[in-house]
Amino acid sequence: YQIRSAVFSKSSAKIDQCPQDNLPEIAFIGRSNVGKSSLINMLTGVKNLAKTSSTPGKTQLINHYLVDNAWYLVDLPGYGYAKVPMSEKAKWEKMTWDYLLDRKTLLYVFVLVDIRIKPQKSDLDFIRKLGENGIAIKIVFTKEDKVKTMEGQRNIMAFLEALKEDWDILPEYFVTSSEKRSGKVEMLGLIEEIVFN
Ligand code: GTP
Ligand code: MG
Repeated sequence: YQIRSAVFSKSSAKIDQCPQDNLPEIAFIGRSNVGKSSLINMLTGVKNLAKTSSTPGKTQLINHYLVDNAWYLVDLPGYGYAKVPMSEKAKWEKMTWDYLLDRKTLLYVFVLVDIRIKPQKSDLDFIRKLGENGIAIKIVFTKEDKVKTMEGQRNIMAFLEALKEDWDILPEYFVTSSEKRSGKVEMLGLIEEIVFN
């Protein structure tokens, strides 16, 4: 599957502002700065489609991108260490969970995890809550170009080991680099299955 067109559709602060045309959608979530927006640009092949930044907390709204006039890719604000006041954080968190729990057209949530670091409580807690609410997920390890292969493997294994405490069947996962464009074929193959079947 190759994406032919991807265009920004709209930014929403709540679910009732999101597109109403009932197209299926896939959302990306993960800690601030993990590489959600970069991955969207890499997968679509549109360089500056989603705004990226080295400062965590760049994406602050629910952003819908219309792909091939058939489905939406959704970029969400990150959780975790963005340097914003608690009140702002609480607002994003409510907005994100309202969306994740109530959006009828949401088919899958891809949770992005930084391959460079040991399992983080914030990721594990977030993933557990998704599972408890019956939300279908895949895991995407990001920034694979930044670690040695062995170290990346070790971190992935440790993360899966930690997930086993909550999950009987481990979610499928991908290893990616937006820099090197790795994992693109695999992710698009799965997305095609999800969206067009
Ligand atoms: P927020 O919107 O703030 O939550 O961040 P985000 O998850 O959308 O991250 P973003 O895509 O903006 O990327 C954050 C930083 O990481 C930027 O400086 C990117 O250039 C860098 N980055 C993202 N993906 C990769 C990758 O695969 N490899 C490398 N080396 N850097 C990456
Ligand atoms: Mg972003």
